Amino acid sequence: MRVRRFCTEAMAAVYAATLVENVIVQKTSPVLGLATGATPKTLYRQLIDFHRQGLSFAQVTTINLDEYVGLAKDNPNSYSAFMQRELYDQIDIDLDHAHMPDGTAVDLEQECARYDAILEVHPIDLQILGIGRNGHIGFNEPDASLRRRTHVVTLSDETRVANSRFFEDKSGVPRQAITMGLESILRAKFIILLAFGREKAHAVRSAVAGDISTKVPASFLQMHPNVTFVLDDAAASLIGRNATV
Ligand code: GLP
Repeated sequence: MRVRRFCTEAMAAVYAATLVENVIVQKTSPVLGLATGATPKTLYRQLIDFHRQGLSFAQVTTINLDEYVGLAKDNPNSYSAFMQRELYDQIDIDLDHAHMPDGTAVDLEQECARYDAILEVHPIDLQILGIGRNGHIGFNEPDASLRRRTHVVTLSDETRVANSRFFEDKSGVPRQAITMGLESILRAKFIILLAFGREKAHAVRSAVAGDISTKVPASFLQMHPNVTFVLDDAAASLIGRNATV
């Protein structure tokens, strides 16, 4: 596991965007696993800048980590709307190649199976992750056991409170989500986890230097051969300066 720390989120985003560009230009049909939340926004803005400077996403397939159950694509709080707004509207991606779980599917189990089939056909070259304050990745919440594949999850109170900043209040935050499972995330050939701000420092420390535990889903990244944590100083404040595990 590599750890890179930067003075500012903006500098971290430039570094991460360069790693993304390297994958895009080296593969003929690159597959990116993408994340939502506040954290990847600076990365996406940087990628939009790279696109304006000539980077094409025309051959890129994207597969997002998760989606709220019950929010339609045109609901501004859906992760589908987030991706459209924060990235897809401003790059040349073919939207037929941009995959999201459908949180409004009538049969959610069938929807999870559909998503797993997409993941089988398109192995992820580079997975972008954020991290929840409780160490969750995607919507894989701390639990006694973790699921391998795409599944429906009941969101923890802590996550609903944290994510309520995007909604009018906590009551508007859906209680369930569809998320890729841990094994699907760990199958990615290369993983970049982004974390910014002091409120992520504990989760980062547990993920990088704690025991591997289902209580901290991100700690399983220690078992992956090709992971880079891209942090600002605040998020890295509880780990040593030369943290390479
Ligand atoms: C959500 C998403 C995660 C994200 C986490 C942190 O729960 N499902 O993918 O990493 O929030 O979000 P933020 O970046 O807004 O702190």
